[in-house]
Amino acid sequence: MLAIRSLSSPARQCLRAAPRAAATWSISRFYSQERVAKYEGTKDANGNYLVSLIEGDGIGPEIAQSVKDIFSAAKTPIAWEPIDVTPIIKDGRTAIPDAAIENINKNKIALKGPLATPVGKGHVSLNLTLRRTFNLFANLRPCRSVAGFKTPYEGVDTVLIRENTEGEYSGIEHVVVDGVVQSIKLITEEASERVLRFAFQHAESIGRTKVRVVHKATIMKMSDGLFLSVAERVAKDFPNIEFDAELLDNTCLKMVTDPNPYNDKVLVMPNLYGDILSDMCAGLIGGLGLTPSGNIGDECSIFEAVHGSAPDIAGKGLANPTALLLSSIMMLRHMRLNDHANQIEKAIFDTLAEGKALTGDLGGKAKTHEYAAAIIEKL
Ligand code: IPM
Ligand code: MN
Repeated sequence: MLAIRSLSSPARQCLRAAPRAAATWSISRFYSQERVAKYEGTKDANGNYLVSLIEGDGIGPEIAQSVKDIFSAAKTPIAWEPIDVTPIIKDGRTAIPDAAIENINKNKIALKGPLATPVGKGHVSLNLTLRRTFNLFANLRPCRSVAGFKTPYEGVDTVLIRENTEGEYSGIEHVVVDGVVQSIKLITEEASERVLRFAFQHAESIGRTKVRVVHKATIMKMSDGLFLSVAERVAKDFPNIEFDAELLDNTCLKMVTDPNPYNDKVLVMPNLYGDILSDMCAGLIGGLGLTPSGNIGDECSIFEAVHGSAPDIAGKGLANPTALLLSSIMMLRHMRLNDHANQIEKAIFDTLAEGKALTGDLGGKAKTHEYAAAIIEKL
C-alpha cells in the first residue's frame, strides 16, 4: 500500500528522479463498492460506547466540560476516556504518546478540543500528526447558517470534504540551493479514491444528489489532474449522483457572491484548497466558533473544533463551546446515535435562535456554563 508515511527515502528518490512514474503506478482498488469509514465501536458492560477525549489547550477544558454536561443531561450512551496527547519526539519526529494511540485505536472514536500549533518552526502541528497517525483521510466540514446570528448571508448550508493526508500538506520540503526552496504536493490515486468515495457515499447518506470536485487542474495538470480523473472514474459507481467539477478561484467568487446554489452539493477537494475554502465557508455563517469538523478514517475518526485555543480568554468562562458541541453531534451521527444527535442539536440551535444566553463572541453576556445550562434546559 502506498501511504504517505511509508514513502521511505528510496521511494522519494524515485519520485524526484522520475516524477512521471506517478502516472503509471498501479494501485489496487480496495475500496470498490464497499462502504468506507464505518464506525465499528462496541458498547462496554454498562451499555456505553467509550470515546477518547482530548480536551486540548487554552479554552479546551472549559468547552469540553460543556459537552460532557450536555451529553450526560441528554443521557447519551457515552463514557469519556480523557487522554493526553502532549507530543513526544520519536526517532527525531513529533509523535503522539503510545498510550494515547492505543486508546484511540481501542475506542475507534475521539473528540478533540483545540491544540496550539507553532508557526514556521518547532514541532509539526499535533493536529496534522493526529490525522497522519490514524490515517484520517477525509475531513468533513459542513457550514450551516445559525438562526440568531446574523451575517450578510442567509440560508447557507454548505458541505465540504477535504482530502486530509497528503497534497500540499505532505510536508516534503527542501532547500535546493540558497534562496530556492521546493515543496512537493503529493497526490496519490489511492488517497484520492478513498476521499472521493467517501464524498459520494456521504452525499447519499445526507440526501444530496450532487458532488462537485473543486480543483485547479488547469495549472496543476498532473496532481489535480489525477484527483479529477479518479473522481470521474469513481462517479461512475454512483449513477444517482450528478457529478461535475469547478475551478477553485471560480468557486470562491461564486460562493461569496451567493452561497445558496451550493446547498444541494457536496464539495470535495485536495487538502490545502479544503483548508482555505472551509475557513471561507465558516466566514459566511459567522466564523470558526460555529463550525464543526470531523476527521474520518477507516479504523477510527476524530471530531474536532477547528478554532484556536484562545489562550487570552482561557479559564475565564468566556469561551463559546458551539464548534466543539456541533463536532460532537457529527460524532454521534457517525456512531449512528441519530436520536441523541437530533435532540441535542435542536436544543443548541433553539438556544442560539432565542439569543438569551449567548457568549460574548456572539454578542451576548453569558458564561460558557450558562450557555450550556440553557441548552440543557431545552433538551
Ligand atoms: C485546520 C487547521 C489546521 C490545518 C492547522 C491547525 C494545522 O487550520 O484544521 O483547518 O491547517 O489543517
Ligand atoms: Mn484551517
